[in-house]
Amino acid sequence: MSLTRKTSDLKKRTKTAVSGGGIEAVKKQKAVGKMTARERILALLDANSFHEYDLFVEHAGKDFDMDKKYLPGDGVITGTGTIGGYPVCVYAQDFTVAGGSLGWMHAKKITKIMDLALKLNVPLVGINDSGGARIQEGVNALAGYGEIFFRNTTASGIIPQISVILGPCAGGAVYSPALTDFVFVVNKISKMFITGPEVIKTVLGEDISMEDLGGAKVHSEITGNAHFYAESEQECFDQIKQLFTYIPWNNKQKAIRFQTKAPLTKQYKIEDIFPSNPKQPYDVKLIIKAICDDSNFFEVHERFAPNIVVGFARIDGNTVGFVANQPLVLAGVLDIDSSDKAARFIRFCDAFNIPLITLVDLPGYLPGVDQEHAGVIRHGAKILYAYSEATVPKLTVILRKAYGGGYIAMCSHHLKADFVFAWPTAEIAVMGPEGAANIIFRNEINSAENPEEVRKQKIKEYKEKFANPYVAAAYGYIDAVIAPEQTRDMLVHALSISGHKALPAYQKKHGIPPF
Ligand code: HXC
Repeated sequence: MSLTRKTSDLKKRTKTAVSGGGIEAVKKQKAVGKMTARERILALLDANSFHEYDLFVEHAGKDFDMDKKYLPGDGVITGTGTIGGYPVCVYAQDFTVAGGSLGWMHAKKITKIMDLALKLNVPLVGINDSGGARIQEGVNALAGYGEIFFRNTTASGIIPQISVILGPCAGGAVYSPALTDFVFVVNKISKMFITGPEVIKTVLGEDISMEDLGGAKVHSEITGNAHFYAESEQECFDQIKQLFTYIPWNNKQKAIRFQTKAPLTKQYKIEDIFPSNPKQPYDVKLIIKAICDDSNFFEVHERFAPNIVVGFARIDGNTVGFVANQPLVLAGVLDIDSSDKAARFIRFCDAFNIPLITLVDLPGYLPGVDQEHAGVIRHGAKILYAYSEATVPKLTVILRKAYGGGYIAMCSHHLKADFVFAWPTAEIAVMGPEGAANIIFRNEINSAENPEEVRKQKIKEYKEKFANPYVAAAYGYIDAVIAPEQTRDMLVHALSISGHKALPAYQKKHGIPPF
């Protein structure tokens, strides 16, 4: 065959392979508002940057007449490209080909691109749209999942791993996203569950729709399995592109530095945001915006456990991770979900060289039988472990309440924060003045002629003694009491001198976090 004929043969083969599951299957995909796998990759990556590999891989199924079937690309597209100039490895399951189900060669394509991502030290993005293990391939399909999970775990903390759920992600398939760093979902398109509605109906007799069982809202608001929620696939891709501007390619690098930009102080003035009444709530996100570059805060896990706020921003052009109690929701208490949420974010920042800034205003851990019985001790310990273990620069600002275990947990000096600053409004105590006065002055209050009068007096005494930052400052637990308007300057300085932070490491294989 001449070169021309061979080239035209290649073109013919390529055309067939890229056609996916054919016109009818593509129509079905579009009818439910989904892009095709190839369209998704092109929408996510920089223009003309995508390079595909293993297009001609064929499936290895032999049973149930599978040997007579041609599955283009075996239902998954893999390759490399860039997102905002950042190199990435990517795979997208093609639901139009056998429902994107995962057979042995499909899994091999995925594990090959995962191995490449780890070898090249670049992020991995996986777009999931699949009916799960390819039933006809039996144990080989299960083996494929196992190989993926192993690589997710190996790559954890070395390269950022991002999962995008754009269709069903059923059965064991859910565990690959669960092992990755950030999970993105889209309303009405993403569906994640271990067992679907039919199995639940059969086993438990319960009726539930796919959307109510494992839709985007469920996972971004209730389970916390998803970190980002979007209304459309395009919005989801824009979120991923934005995330990439804040994180490094791998754990040996720092995120790219941007030009420093002052906060938009006309819109976000601390004195207008922060109330003078200590009992009045406020939106801590506005405080973050008043402090960070260009007032640009990229929130992670926005819809889950909103009593704590986590996300990325820049200070003096460098990426930082903010962790802040949210007084607007449950007074910013720590509970099971907010501890899980914060701990995970802290560990991501620590693994990828992103300094942590903690803003504190909380009455402590949430009391209650539900919390106790659901394991608030075990879950609450995660935040202690994550902060204690983190070796990136750790800066803390106490805005108002820092009571009890909450004071310790929110990156106090005792968990080895590098700098702890407090506003003059800070109150650092074992508990709130009302509770404290009722306990330690109980006898005096009860035996008084006018118990209410005495109670008020004792609360006032306790407040004067402890509801301020100066007792903690007198012990050196606070490095500086600062005026709120000094906050950004203090953080800029503290970050600038923390760039070469180095800690001695103890010899151990690994710690045992309270998983
Ligand atoms: C083989 C599959 C498949 C699968 C879908 N297909 N899932 N083929 N193995 N797991 C095929 C269908 O036969 C169909 O082929 C095509 O994909 C499109 O599927 P439809 O059912 O027509 O699509 P839709 O109506 O949109 O429903 C999608 C679905 C449903 C909800 C995902 O297909 C479904 O329930 N699939 C099974 C999901 C499941 O239980 N997976 C768990 C497997 S066990 P044709 O030829 O007709 O177009 C598992 C364990 C892994 O994953 C454990 C690892 C630790």
